[in-house]
Amino acid sequence: MSRHPLVAANWKMNHLRADAVDCCRALKQALAERPAPARVAIFPSFPLIPVVAAELAGSELAVGGQDLHPDDKGAHTGDVSGAQLADAGCAWVLCGHSERRQDHGEDDALVARKVAAAVRHRLAPLICVGETRDERREGRTFGVLERQLRSAVTAVASAAGPFALAYEPVWAIGTGETATPETAQEVHAFLRLLLGELVEGAAAALPILYGGSATPENAAGLFAQPDVDGFLVGGASLDPQKFLAIIRHSG
Ligand code: PGA
Repeated sequence: MSRHPLVAANWKMNHLRADAVDCCRALKQALAERPAPARVAIFPSFPLIPVVAAELAGSELAVGGQDLHPDDKGAHTGDVSGAQLADAGCAWVLCGHSERRQDHGEDDALVARKVAAAVRHRLAPLICVGETRDERREGRTFGVLERQLRSAVTAVASAAGPFALAYEPVWAIGTGETATPETAQEVHAFLRLLLGELVEGAAAALPILYGGSATPENAAGLFAQPDVDGFLVGGASLDPQKFLAIIRHSG
């Protein structure tokens, strides 16, 4: 496969500094002893970014932000800019995670502006798309995904910088319910086809990750699918041993 697998840890609003240090050291040591073919990125909450960046300095592991403001600076209390993330050592940023869409009312237009801001600051956007349970039940999965993806990649259509896509069915996030390998493959193949139309060269090169209750138990079956190129892991990424097991299943 020409695509380079990517496994990402989305720590969400978890961990204090000591936990972050412990996790980073465990991952760094295990991957130094036995390198993995997959690239690995950690997405901690904002206060932990400098801790994680310092721990991972000089290693192959990358750091990313969980969100960014579409503007470069200004009067936006509580927000963080792409420039600040890059300055803090981030290489990646999540855009369009369903928890941002749900908790903060982010719509497709805002997600597109965030992706554009990421590209401006040379951060690689990890764009998240996914349907809710109702949307799937009503047969709207592919329409929703197409709408989300078309909008989100407007800003990267001409960008040479790296990016990645995560399929995160909302009904599978944090629920313990995972998409079957067949369901994930069906969606990933659809997303790859659409990407081919939207972004020059992306279909073959772009990693499409699966996210939604990924665990060491289900990772191998999902990764065996031709269009699943890695994982965006929430809950299981908080335990470095579980996260490592998922990394080991991804390549
Ligand atoms: P989960 O979260 O692995 O806990 O389901 C995935 C995500 O939201 O990125």
